[in-house]
Amino acid sequence: MLKDKKIQNILSKKERGEKITMLTAYDYPLASLIDQAGIDIVLVGDSLANVVLGLESTKEVGMNEMIHHAKAVCRAVKNALVIGDMPFVAYHDHPQEAVRNAKRFIEEAGCGAVKLEWFDQCVETTQKIIQSGIPVMGHIGLTPQTADQLGGLKVQGREVKSAKKLVEESIALQVAGCFAIVLECIPDKLAQLITKQLRIPTIGIGGGVHCDGQVLVTYDLLGLFDGYHPKFVKQYANLSSLISQAVLQYKKEVQSGQFPDEAHSFKISPEELDQLKKQLGIK
Ligand code: KIV
Repeated sequence: MLKDKKIQNILSKKERGEKITMLTAYDYPLASLIDQAGIDIVLVGDSLANVVLGLESTKEVGMNEMIHHAKAVCRAVKNALVIGDMPFVAYHDHPQEAVRNAKRFIEEAGCGAVKLEWFDQCVETTQKIIQSGIPVMGHIGLTPQTADQLGGLKVQGREVKSAKKLVEESIALQVAGCFAIVLECIPDKLAQLITKQLRIPTIGIGGGVHCDGQVLVTYDLLGLFDGYHPKFVKQYANLSSLISQAVLQYKKEVQSGQFPDEAHSFKISPEELDQLKKQLGIK
């Protein structure tokens, strides 16, 4: 499917009242599985910093790391829309720098769009990126890159003033030309109100059931990340424990000589082996 068609398809899901599915991926194998399952959007999230690179904050991940992982994801994904998540350093300095970095996601990695977390110059920067021909997904509510200015990793928009600000931000991003907006960690009724106000789809993460779609960090959903566990995460599998069991079993079998067995070894004919020994002068 052409990239523009993928965005059209996502927009039409809102019109038809069909839920939009989105997950993060950072590598080829997971991205393949997610795409084969028919998920609509694969986000190469800057959560890469925490769940894959072991960094404290998403602010610590840079453009080169994001592009490296986005390339692997784009090689794997055949159907979904792949979105590159702009890391903090990519767009806070100057809108032109933001446009240059957004282009890297499209031209170097093969993504179909970029995502930007809300910040003070968000509207101007978003407009510049869209004017350069790149589709943008917005992100408001709890924006982890600037969480220190929001009182930490906590629910946003519980009071009239902050809730009104989020409504205004969502409208400003729609007017700027975003094709969709992530609503992170806000009350479900506020997410519902924003979703009803907007023409473009909302994708919730801790935004309740009334959003037009949902996103989770795949490592959280799979039980592969032991760090921070927000209330909105539902764990659908416990891969950490499966992986630990497999690794312990491997260790045991190597130590006892049980692995590798005949089924996992290669053979040389006795004649070839004899010849070899003769030539090497080995009895
Ligand atoms: O980086 C990320 O994984 C995200 C999602 C949580 C929306 O931005």
